[in-house]
Order: sequence, then C-alpha cells, then structure tokens
Amino acid sequence: MTMHLQIIIGSTRESRNADLVAPWVTRRAESHPGFEVEVIDLRDWPLPMFQEHAGTIGNLHDPTFSDPIVKAWNRKIAEGDAYLIITPEYNHSVPGVLKNAIDSIFISNALRNKPLAGVAYSGGIAAGVRAIEHLALIAIEEEMAPLRSSVLIPFVSRAFDAAGDPLDAMTDVALTIALEDLAWWSAALQRARADGELVPSKMRAMAARANLA
Ligand SMILES: Cc1cc2nc3c(=O)[nH]c(=O)nc-3n(C[C@H](O)[C@H](O)[C@H](O)COP(=O)(O)O)c2cc1C
Repeated sequence: MTMHLQIIIGSTRESRNADLVAPWVTRRAESHPGFEVEVIDLRDWPLPMFQEHAGTIGNLHDPTFSDPIVKAWNRKIAEGDAYLIITPEYNHSVPGVLKNAIDSIFISNALRNKPLAGVAYSGGIAAGVRAIEHLALIAIEEEMAPLRSSVLIPFVSRAFDAAGDPLDAMTDVALTIALEDLAWWSAALQRARADGELVPSKMRAMAARANLA
C-alpha cells in the first residue's frame, strides 16, 4: 500500500540553503515505490505566531482555531502517514518558524502515532545534529515515532554537485535508509491505527486527575 509522505521544508528565509537540499530529497522520495509524496513548504503557510487557547478552540472534536489558516494547517498535516522534515540548525535547534508550525498542530493530534525522520544541515561542521536531536524531542511530545535514521549534511553550501546530488555518497545512503525506515514504520503504524488507538495520554491523565478530585 502506498503511504502519503509529507516533506516539510522548515526554513523560509530568502536565499535559504534549504533549496539545495529539498529538490534532492523530493526527487529521491518520489522514486521510492512506497510513497505518494507531497512537499509542504512553510513559505506557503504563513501561520500566525501561536495564539490558541480554550476560546479559539471551541469544539475539541472540530476546533475553530484563531485563524482559518491554522485549521487548514491541522487538516493538511492530518493527511500524512509519514513525515520527513528538512531543517537547518538555528541556535542549536530548529528554526522558530518550524517550531511554531509544529506547535500549531494543536488539539487535533494530526501527527500522533506516525513516524518522523529528519534531514538536517548547517553551514559548518555541526551538520544540524542538534536540530535533529531537538526535533526528536519535540516529536515525542506530539506522540510521534521519531526514527533513529536521519540525514546530516555539514557545510551545506558546498555539499551538492551541479546536478543537485550530494558529493558525499554516504549522504545519499543515509536518505535511502531513512526512506526505507519511514516506509516500514508508516505501514506498521497505519495498521496499528486502524486496529484502534488509545485515547491520547494527556487526556487520560486529565480524566484520572478529575476522578481523584
Ligand atoms: C539564526 C541562525 C542561527 C544559526 N545557528 C547555527 C547553529 O547553531 N549551528 C550551526 O551549525 N549553524 C547555525 N547557523 C547556520 C545555518 O545552519 C546555515 O546558515 C543554514 O544554511 C541555514 O539554513 P537556511 O539557509 O535554509 O535558512 C545559523 C543560521 C542562522 C540564520
């Protein structure tokens, strides 16, 4: 069965190096038989800075949100079975615009019980490794399954040849492995979701607290 893979481009600034990375990642994902690929560029999603609260949510089962774009964003992300996030390292973490986009997946549980792999890069030797580590921690709170397999690209501005392929063959291998793992996990978790999901752990804790009161 084909899985819906969403590739999220996590940097939006003009002249971003993400434009070196994203075309290669997209091309390689599209050539994987297990995926139907959708590229989600945060430039196309000018989300407000996070501002949700009980008053903006309304119906928990069909939240209103503060702005129609936030509702559309939650619906769009819910369509994915697997996620590949392309992120640079900004101040030892992910860009604020990416964190805000993930925070904006609110109440809807759109990412829950689905796998995530990251492709990280930076201008220097660090290769985005700290961004990947933070991303995995963020994903845990979304109740995702962050995968061990990730792609790390140091010195991004000189990491690709004129055809747009990585100069280091192991970078390409890392992406192959991440895609294989995403395909396996997305199929496994899709089956598991179809079998039935637990009520989100936060909600169970809230219910237990209310019973104790
Ligand atoms: C605000 C900011 C913070 C950065 N912090 C780091 C950092 O902590 N570690 C690192 O290796 N590179 C850091 N860099 C370098 C970026 O990883 C590099 O410029 C990368 O190309 C940014 O991705 P983008 O061009 O797609 O926005 C930073 C760049 C910016 C703009």
